[in-house]
Amino acid sequence: MFDQAVARPIDQIIAISRAYQEDPRDDKVDFGIGVYKDANGVTPVMRAVKAAEQRLIDTQMTKTYVGVGGDQKFVELLAKAVLPDHDYGTDMIGIQSIGGSGAVRVLAELALSLNPKANFWMPDPTWPNHRAIFGAVGAAMTTYPYPKFTADADIDAILQALDAAAPGDVVVIHGGCHNPTGVDPSREELGRLTEGIVARGLIPFVDAAYIGFGRGWDEDAARIAAIAERAPEMLLALSCSKNFGLYRERTGAALLVGKGHANLAAANSALLSLARANYSMPPDHGAAIVRMIFEDPELKAAWLAELKEMRETINGSRTALALALARAKQDRDWTYIDKGYGMFSLIDVTPEAAQTLREEHGVYIIPDGRMNIAGIDLSKIDEIAAKLVTAV
Ligand code: LMR
Repeated sequence: MFDQAVARPIDQIIAISRAYQEDPRDDKVDFGIGVYKDANGVTPVMRAVKAAEQRLIDTQMTKTYVGVGGDQKFVELLAKAVLPDHDYGTDMIGIQSIGGSGAVRVLAELALSLNPKANFWMPDPTWPNHRAIFGAVGAAMTTYPYPKFTADADIDAILQALDAAAPGDVVVIHGGCHNPTGVDPSREELGRLTEGIVARGLIPFVDAAYIGFGRGWDEDAARIAAIAERAPEMLLALSCSKNFGLYRERTGAALLVGKGHANLAAANSALLSLARANYSMPPDHGAAIVRMIFEDPELKAAWLAELKEMRETINGSRTALALALARAKQDRDWTYIDKGYGMFSLIDVTPEAAQTLREEHGVYIIPDGRMNIAGIDLSKIDEIAAKLVTAV
């Protein structure tokens, strides 16, 4: 049987991350995998997370199963933190998931099981694992155009592309800090996009992995609410990897959203069956931490303060890189990097140029030109910008 296996290339983000770790050069620069890094290049355990974790060790009396849907209180608190005007159980319901990716996977399986003909519309470009996940569940896929190297989201172009979608098709929308472009529509634009999606009979599928990294937790959540309040049905994948720094704890939620929708509970039972047949039950540790933070006002305030620090560090790095690139290459407009949101932005390079950057300069970007700007060493910013512009 194993003889039948053909070696497959690994996801390019994971491949770049691995290559960076194996590079012995001291002056290498990591623009690769999407993890937050502070000024020292460290991905910290957040202070509120450490405190909650300690409390958990001291008080946890059992490690028995938490159930197929995970810790329902965690799911409810997270869901309410994102959509405070939706009642849990009536307007939205869901399960704890294995990180944001696990939520995307189980929601995609659900959508396809409820409508096997659904075509999944993704932005081009998008996070490469979207294609891998939707392909793995057997979904048909199409893309809609998504702007890059600009600060403006062209909603009309997206809606024009969606004219070709059939009612019941699924439209994947990044829930903020678009990966890889950093280009985010405003709240109003998201409202208009959703109205166009609903008018075409399509289902929004929001993948929100960066709430709190864009404008602030409440402002970022309000952008998702702008979609939820207009869509009779919506799929929502939430990740706590970045905003709680819980990457390896695989913490997230898969939510079904629809104000007063009569069939939410039945749809959720289908979600539970899919989860049970897949991984049976989710891990608890990360969810228990997030729950504790949401339930304790002091921990919550500390977490929000640190999230703000992280966001401000990222935004400072965006500004610094845009200015350094403008110094290094003046005949281009780099302001889109400063005006974008979250950890990512693109630089206009070919995959070959990205490879040369890696091999000759030790600068690791994703072959599509994506840069994770968080954690860039500001003391070397001009040096780094000078290397980057050799590729454009
Ligand atoms: C990324 O886009 O780099 C992150 O979301 C990590 C991942 O799993 O790809």
